[in-house]
Formats: sequence, C-alpha cells, structure tokens
Amino acid sequence: MTTNSEEIKELVRERYGARARGFIELTPAQDAAAGDSGCCGPADMERALRIYTEGQVAGLPAESVAASAGCGNPTALAGLKPGERVLDLGSGGGIDCFLAAQQVGETGHVIGLDMTQDMLDLARQNQAKLGLTNVEFISGDIENIPLPDATVDVVISNCVVCLSPDKDAVFRETFRLLTPGGRLHISDMMALSTTGPARADAEAWASCIAGAEDRETYLRRLQAVGFVDIQMEEEKMRFDDDGVPMNVASVKVVAHKPS
Ligand SMILES: C[S@@+](CC[C@H](N)C(=O)[O-])C[C@H]1O[C@@H](n2cnc3c(N)ncnc32)[C@H](O)[C@@H]1O
Repeated sequence: MTTNSEEIKELVRERYGARARGFIELTPAQDAAAGDSGCCGPADMERALRIYTEGQVAGLPAESVAASAGCGNPTALAGLKPGERVLDLGSGGGIDCFLAAQQVGETGHVIGLDMTQDMLDLARQNQAKLGLTNVEFISGDIENIPLPDATVDVVISNCVVCLSPDKDAVFRETFRLLTPGGRLHISDMMALSTTGPARADAEAWASCIAGAEDRETYLRRLQAVGFVDIQMEEEKMRFDDDGVPMNVASVKVVAHKPS
C-alpha cells in the first residue's frame, strides 16, 4: 500500500502494459493476464459492445476494440468536426483516436498520448492495420504534456483522469493546450461519496476506484484552472463481482476554455 505518486504510476503502467501485451503477443498466459487487468473490468469484445455501438466498431481492428478499457464513449458526444485537432489523454489501444480520426477527416489531426509503451505499441499496430495517416501516438504523462500551448481544439479522454495522482496538473495542462473556445469531453469515474476505498490502496487506484473523486472536488479543480460552462452527468454505477455497489460511477464531463 502506498500513496507515492510514482509507485501508483508504475502499477498503472504494469497493469495496462499487461493488458496491451495480451493483444500484441497473444500467448494464452498473457491473454489471461490481460483479461484481469482492466480499469472497468476484463478485456473482451462483449464488454466493449456495452459501451460502443456495433456501427462504431465495425471496421476497427478487433484488438483495438477488445483492449479498450474505457468507461464511456467520448467521441460519440464531442461533436467533432472535419478539420479539428484532437488530443486523447491516455489513449490506450487507440479506439477513441480511431473514432475521432474518422470524424475529423483528412484535414483534421488526432494525437493519442499514453505513458505505457506497450499500449503505444498496440495502438500503432492497430493504426497500421487501419492505414490512418491523420493519427499519431506519442509517449508522455498527462500531468506534463509534451505539446505546445493552444494547439488543440478538443481534448477527449476515457477513464484516465481518475488514474492520475495530480489531477490539478492534468486540468492545468489541458487548459494550456486548448485553443481559446476549445472544449474538453471526457468520460471518467467519479466517487459517489468522500468515504470511498482508502486512497493509499494502489491496487484500488489502478482499478480506477481509489483515485476517483467526488463531484464537488472534480468541478472545483476544473473551475480553478479557468474552465467554464462545465457539465458533469452521472452515467452508470459500478458494482463488484458480487453485485455490491462500489461507491463509484462513470460520468461524462464537458468543459470549455473561454474564447
Ligand atoms: C483505463 S485505460 C483507458 C485506455 C483508453 N482510453 C480506452 O478507453 O481504452 C488507461 C490508460 O491511460 C494510461 N495512463 C494512465 N495514467 C496515465 C498518465 N499519467 N499519463 C499518460 N497515460 C496514462 C494507461 O497507460 C492506459 O493506457
């Protein structure tokens, strides 16, 4: 048990690295390991199809769909337009980047950012299968993003901010990168009360539980860095394997940088 930020990030890297390797190498042992290493449950196609529509995933590599580890469907709601520049925080196997790339078209550009090398490898493998040229995957930490100021129109993210030990830094960086009038569309996990699992439990953190924050804290952090017109809507409560509610729910969040 630890609250050390670097140890939490190392555990997150290990967990999502194992999930990615299960889809790159496809040995039975790794596949089994990947099956247990998700944020919102095991890696499988059936779970993905509870989040994405069949129409959305048709034509995407099976690995990108089955490896998806999100808790929502941000590109379905972001209203992406041709020509827009999009950044996906914690892009994993790339599914939301590929959906965004279809929407922004050849004149747009999508960047997937992730700190786990195996996830980047998987995403690039999936990108090559699709032959997409308007997407790139870069390595980096969402708390310290290696991109210049005001170069992105829309930031999306799917079940990643809850994994960060420094959410103020994530929102500060997001605000910095957005162009004036730009928008944030994220799916995330939110704590339903302030008495959730111990924040010192790194395992629970890597499962998107201990790092999830309550609505007021989340809103306050977004407002503090300058976001306006913020909406936060609860979607689904999460239950454990025995059907017991886990004090967290998936949520969709929209916020704007003033023009
Ligand atoms: C729950 S998975 C979600 C992946 C993807 N968004 C999806 O919906 O399939 C979390 C991803 O975020 C990445 N991640 C977690 N914390 C990060 C951080 N601080 N900086 C960059 N990437 C991070 C992990 O490596 C992992 O690929």
